[in-house]
Amino acid sequence: MRRAIISDIHANLVALEAVLSELERQEVDSIYCLGDVIGYGPQPRECLAKSRSFELNLLGNHEEAVLYEPIGFNARAKSAVDWTKDQLRVAELTQDEKREIWNFLGDMPARHVEGDVLYVHGSPRDPTREYVFVSDIRNPAKIAEIFEAQEQRTSFAGHTHTAGVFTEDCEFLHPSQIGNRYQVGERKVLINVGSVGQPRDGDPRGSYVIFDGEIVEFHRVKYDVEEAIRRFRETPLPEELALRLIEGR
Ligand SMILES: [Fe+2]
Repeated sequence: MRRAIISDIHANLVALEAVLSELERQEVDSIYCLGDVIGYGPQPRECLAKSRSFELNLLGNHEEAVLYEPIGFNARAKSAVDWTKDQLRVAELTQDEKREIWNFLGDMPARHVEGDVLYVHGSPRDPTREYVFVSDIRNPAKIAEIFEAQEQRTSFAGHTHTAGVFTEDCEFLHPSQIGNRYQVGERKVLINVGSVGQPRDGDPRGSYVIFDGEIVEFHRVKYDVEEAIRRFRETPLPEELALRLIEGR
């Protein structure tokens, strides 16, 4: 098994296409997406259409926000939610297309378990909304609670847009510290796969991992950020959402 795990595409089709063509080259046999296909970015419909071919699509907090209420969103993120919602309802879509989109969103599960591996968007404790930040390693009580909620040895998450490995010993292993590889073993770990379309770890390249059941490989893909910004500018989305792509912050 060679499975690609991606997350947080955030309607950035330019980044998604770059990652998908890399995955073709990598000859993966399945793609799991941990949520936030939409939100923030300019091409939600196109990204949802591509996601439909993935073997798994989990519910992210941005899908939850368009389906229900935007809870815990700041004003900028909320305005992007409203714009995204409109894009999925516009008159140029047929009734069937709209039904397909909204059924696809509504059918997304919040968590997925396969053997000893848990897949979520946020955290094992709160699958769509809780963030596990790198700074949380200074909060051992929180990390302990997270791992207590994680019944499986390994979990994969997204949501913070920062790739790396959290261990039960309150460590965060940045991919560069571990040669971009981590072997899952006896101890519990939470692996963040980073973000395809809006990285926030200082590296503007799209992030994904490949998991073969034992080894997790961390990968980054350079994409045409200028083109992505140009597509933002065809929409009324806030300029800051586009410009943050340049530095990956
Ligand atoms: Fe996200």
